Parts: sequence; C-alpha cells; structure tokens
Amino acid sequence: MPSAEKSSYNFDNLWMPFSYYRDTLENPPIVIEKGEGVWIIDNQGKRYLDAVGSWWVSILGHNHPYITNAVRRQLDKIEHVIMAGFISEPSLRLSEMIKNILPSELTRIFYSDDGSTAVEIALKIAMQYHALRSETRPVFVSFEGGYHGDTLGAMSVGMIPQYHALFHQQFKKQLFAHSPYCYRCPVNCTPENCHCECMDSLERILQEHNKNIAACIFEPMVQGAVGMRVYPSKVLKRIFSLCKQYNVLTIADEVAMGFGRTGKLFACEHAGEVPDIMCIAKGLTGGYLPLSATVVKEFIFDEFKGDYKSNRILNHGHTFTGNPLAASAACATIELITSMHIPQSIETKIHYFHEKLSVFKKFDIVGDIRALGMCAALELVADKASKRPLPVESRFSYILSNKAVARGLLLRPLGDTIYFMPPFIITEKDIDFMIDTTSEVLQETINECLTPL
Ligand SMILES: Cc1ncc(COP(=O)(O)O)c(C=O)c1O
Repeated sequence: MPSAEKSSYNFDNLWMPFSYYRDTLENPPIVIEKGEGVWIIDNQGKRYLDAVGSWWVSILGHNHPYITNAVRRQLDKIEHVIMAGFISEPSLRLSEMIKNILPSELTRIFYSDDGSTAVEIALKIAMQYHALRSETRPVFVSFEGGYHGDTLGAMSVGMIPQYHALFHQQFKKQLFAHSPYCYRCPVNCTPENCHCECMDSLERILQEHNKNIAACIFEPMVQGAVGMRVYPSKVLKRIFSLCKQYNVLTIADEVAMGFGRTGKLFACEHAGEVPDIMCIAKGLTGGYLPLSATVVKEFIFDEFKGDYKSNRILNHGHTFTGNPLAASAACATIELITSMHIPQSIETKIHYFHEKLSVFKKFDIVGDIRALGMCAALELVADKASKRPLPVESRFSYILSNKAVARGLLLRPLGDTIYFMPPFIITEKDIDFMIDTTSEVLQETINECLTPL
C-alpha cells in the first residue's frame, strides 16, 4: 500500500514513464532500497515479489552475489573506455561468450545500450547492407501489435496504436502484416483449424513490395508489450519461410524473449530457424546494467568489410558502447545461465507454473490464459462469449495491480492483460504466492468494480 512515509519524498521533478500524472499523485512511486532474489524491498522493509522481473530484465533475481561480485571486481579496474581503437577486456570476452551461446551462423556482434538501440542498429544495418549491394530497399515489414522500442526508428516498425499512432503521423510508418493474435484471430481461425492464414497478409505484402523491403522484423513466439500474445511455432516457421521465398532479410527481436524466457535459450529455436539479424538486450546483463547487442550472420558483415576508400563502414556507435561494467555483468550472467543449465533446468518449474494457471479458469472475466516458458498472461474481458473488452472507465487492471502491490506482489498489467514474467529462480512456494495472490485480488476487484457487469 502506498505508505504515509513515502510522502516525505519529493516527486515534483520526476516524469515517470508510461504513467498518468494523476495516478502518480494518488499512488506515488514506492521507493525501493534492496533486492533479494525475486523480492524487492522498500524503505519501510516491505517486500514485494517481482512478478514482472522489473520490466523483464531480472532473469536470475535481484542482487545475485555472482553478478554483483563480477561488477564489483570490474569497478576496481576501469569503469569505461572508448570502443574505437580500444576495447575493455570484458567486452571482448563477452563477444566470444555471446557467440558461443548463439547458433553458429550468427557471428558478428555490435554492442549498444538497450533494446531500442539494438533495433535501430538492426534496421540501419539491413538498409545499408542493401545499399552496399547497390540496391535501394527503404521499407520494413513488421506486424500489428508489434513493439520494438520507443526510439523513432523502432517505433516506425511498432504498431500498438496507443504508443505509436501519433508518431506514425509524423515519422515514417512501415508495412504491417496481421498480428498472430490467436485469441482474437484476425482471419477468424481457431487453434484447431489454423494453418497460419494470418500470415497470408505477410505473403501479400512480400509479393507486392519485396524488392523494396530491407527486412522483416518480428518478436519471435510472443508479442510482448501488446499483451504477451503467444503464438504457435508454425506461424514463426511461416514467417521465416516466406521471407526466404521472397528473399527478404529476417530480424528477430529477441530483446524480451531471449535468454530462456520461452523455455528455449532463444525463441527462434521453437521454429528451428536462425534469423539473419538478432537483437538481444534485457536479460543479457541479468538486469544489472543497460547493454544490448545486434548480432548478424557473416554474409551481412561481409558487405561491411572494406578500406577507407570503400565507404563500407557502419557509422554508428553510442558513447557507452561496450561499457566494461555492463559487459562484466553480462559475462557473469551468461556464465550462470550456462552453469545452471537454463532453460532445461527450469522445465519442471515451468510445468508447475503452467498447472497453477488453471486456477484462473473459474473466472468469467478471464477470457484467455496463454503461457510459454516462464511467461504467462491473462486477458480480461467483460464478456467471455463475445470477448468484449472491459470498459476503459472501470480501470480494472489498475485497481487490481494496486491491490496486488498492497499485498506484496508487483504486477504491472499491459492494458487489460495481467502477466507474469518472474525471475527464473522463483521457487514453487513463491509461484504459489504469485498466483494465489493474483487470484485473490482478481476476485476482490471483481466484487468491487464489476457487480453487476
Ligand atoms: C521486443 C522488444 N524490443 C525492444 C524493446 C525495447 O527495449 P528497451 O526498452 O530496452 O529500449 C522492448 C522493450 O520492452 C521489447 O519488448
């Protein structure tokens, strides 16, 4: 519960992301002092189970001693070094470690700071790759419901109207195929009769525009920010095969789902495919420090191999590129992932987690329960039969998440979708707490807000 003590803090200079100002006045941010595994602890000692891995980055839990020590050791050496003509030892070591956990075809690693910048770089690489081959391919194809970050290039390939519509008016909007949104299938298929017809829309776009398309960018297996829309691997396979057929580069945005979240180390593995370009971030440093990478196949990098007369240079680089502190956190994270055999070692836990979700079946308000790996979501509706959305003015999920927080559970719904993306180290006992508490606050919120519907 927002505690009285919080008001002793001054929030007047803060602009909180993804937050309505009035809500932050009513419920000022909770000041967190410590982290311990899946728990974060506020200035009053109150504990909250971090069911969203602090925006999906904390895959091994907060304040993990192994990662903390790695960063500490690096702090005694050097905090940052320019990555041009020089490189820090952890950044160099990390490139080999990333290479070793990725499919062997992905060979060249370009660092940046976060998911959005990894995507910007992927888009630039794809465009320049074609330019270096004397082809002009100025357009990208992406998917409705897609999210690739908040910078302008990344937004141009995103299509969640409340985030993107305004900016699409001003800045270039790309081509969009249907969302693989199984619960509300855009082509009215059911899971039983689906032959990936939603991707006919992608085929139509590729047929018409393929010569102009620099790349197809997608979130493999789960469209995250729009509400954890899990889709079948056969759809992902069709995306790959259509891109191959029409000779279009693939960019897999593994920013959210990479590093084991879906039950495979990288989500593309579900389709048995390797993208031409892959973006990784979030879990890469275990959530310690901002760091991302855009990784490409060698045939792409081949076009950038030139001397000073060739203009074969990627003129891109952020000041903190290859930061050694972040890289040391990432090296330690990959060491842990490897030594802990993630994701294989969490299969039983994932199974337990999925079984627990059945408790939500009894709720009329829960229209869809979807899950893949250590990621699950409940889409709430006003009416199960018609799938009618909840009235916006009910503020249902906002009220629900405040109730959860009051009980020590950090939930952060995406619209009417409540989701769980806890650190992989969560125990079965903590899964019980997460699911049971959500079930209780769901019932309470129904009693309070929706009687009668
Ligand atoms: C699939 C995907 N790509 C890119 C991003 C952007 O990452 P960042 O917020 O680190 O810029 C996100 C963020 O949620 C994401 O989910």
